[in-house]
Amino acid sequence: MSINLLKGCRTGHLPMAKVAVRFICQVCGTSHNRWNGKCEGCGEWNTLVEEVVEKHRALVASASAPIPSLYTIDDPTLVDLTKVRYSTSFGEFNRVCGGGIVPGSVILVGGDPGIGKSTLLLQIACDVSGHTPCLYLSGEESVQQLQMRAKRVGVKAEHLQIGSCTSLEEIQNLLARHKNTKLLVVDSIQTISSDALEAAAGSVSQVRACSQSLIHLAKKQGISVILVGHVTKEGTIAGPRVLEHMVDTVLYFEGERHYDFRILRAVKNRFGATNEIGLFAMEQHGLAEVTNPSALFLSDRAQGISGTAVFAGIEGTRPVLCEIQALVSKSYLGMPRRTTVGWDSARLAMILAVLESRAGFTFGSMDVYLNVVGGLKINEPAADLAVAAALISAIINKPINPSYVFFGEIGLGGEVRPVHQTEARLKEAEKLGFLKALCAQKKGVETSLPIARLELLKDLSRQLA
Ligand code: TYD
Ligand code: MG
Repeated sequence: MSINLLKGCRTGHLPMAKVAVRFICQVCGTSHNRWNGKCEGCGEWNTLVEEVVEKHRALVASASAPIPSLYTIDDPTLVDLTKVRYSTSFGEFNRVCGGGIVPGSVILVGGDPGIGKSTLLLQIACDVSGHTPCLYLSGEESVQQLQMRAKRVGVKAEHLQIGSCTSLEEIQNLLARHKNTKLLVVDSIQTISSDALEAAAGSVSQVRACSQSLIHLAKKQGISVILVGHVTKEGTIAGPRVLEHMVDTVLYFEGERHYDFRILRAVKNRFGATNEIGLFAMEQHGLAEVTNPSALFLSDRAQGISGTAVFAGIEGTRPVLCEIQALVSKSYLGMPRRTTVGWDSARLAMILAVLESRAGFTFGSMDVYLNVVGGLKINEPAADLAVAAALISAIINKPINPSYVFFGEIGLGGEVRPVHQTEARLKEAEKLGFLKALCAQKKGVETSLPIARLELLKDLSRQLA
């Protein structure tokens, strides 16, 4: 294994554009001409930080340039960049990006510390460097640490250029010297700072200015850029919210510390579907793809226990089966507890109310706990039926037949509504050996899996009794 090490570069700056100073609120991003104790935008105190604003002369020059027409259908010179993506050997990563990395696009990857962002991107960069010139820059690790990681992961990277740097100007210089670079990875954007600003690295103004410069560079030179972003306590990418608006694609790398698997989730993608997920497992030698997620989520199913139901869900474009568990116990509190993990608590309250009013189950004096097994987060209303089944099974204390699978939305009238992609869900359930699906009536669905079609919640309780 050998990785090309970038020689220290001259720290001469590229020609700078004209600069002006603004004071930007760290909370809401409002721009002020002079420093103020209080932000005029959001009323917060002591949140203004000095920021240098570049005025690109190019903009003035382009004022006289002709404005192109959008009519491009017959233009033979037009290249559809989404058709010439850089694909990696990680099918999961390609799918989350919409089929590979689009040339000139900017991808922001966020995630908790230690979740595996650097490992993932090093593996991706090594892979892409086999056919496309790549540059991997880290502001968090030294070159030696990067080499150690590459050794541990066992990647072959004769052509990957790596470097340790924390200065925006240095990155610009490196790119000016390595003109054929097509993919740039910056780990992380919070460690990069521009000499033009006085603010510390990681501050809102530095993150914003450095990202803006890198995005500008990506668009101008057609370089794809992957930025790593730290997340805040609330779980969003640190820095101004506008960062997510500026980039083309936002991916979150998530996972529970206690589980090996990791989910790469697209929350924004200008070149592909959002809510697409890719699954990986963190192993001794780096990240490995998980190509059959349902088998993973259902692998350790407990048999013969009441309160568990299998939900046939859709994550992005792919069916994923998972287990939903409910526990109901007598409450000793004035206000019974309702706790959910991986599912919306307001939705649970709604289902409990519908079960009480339309199907005659009372949870009033009970604590209710609901858990999506394996750390998965579900936000599809199609999971309503599986949640209701788990709750009914828990309250009547009778296990559900393990070969049943559920999906369907529940309305306030207690009716079970059909959901999209019914056929894909049924096919996946059949593939995994399930023998019966309990779902809503939907016309024109062809399947060889036996189905119990439900119209009302009462039909469900009859099936489970
Ligand atoms: P890392 O990629 O450094 O996380 P991030 O960049 O998101 O902070 O991953 C660090 C964790 O991954 C660390 O706890 C060790 C674990 N790990 C493995 O289990 N196997 C491996 O091959 C590697 C490189 C890391
Ligand atoms: Mg890292």
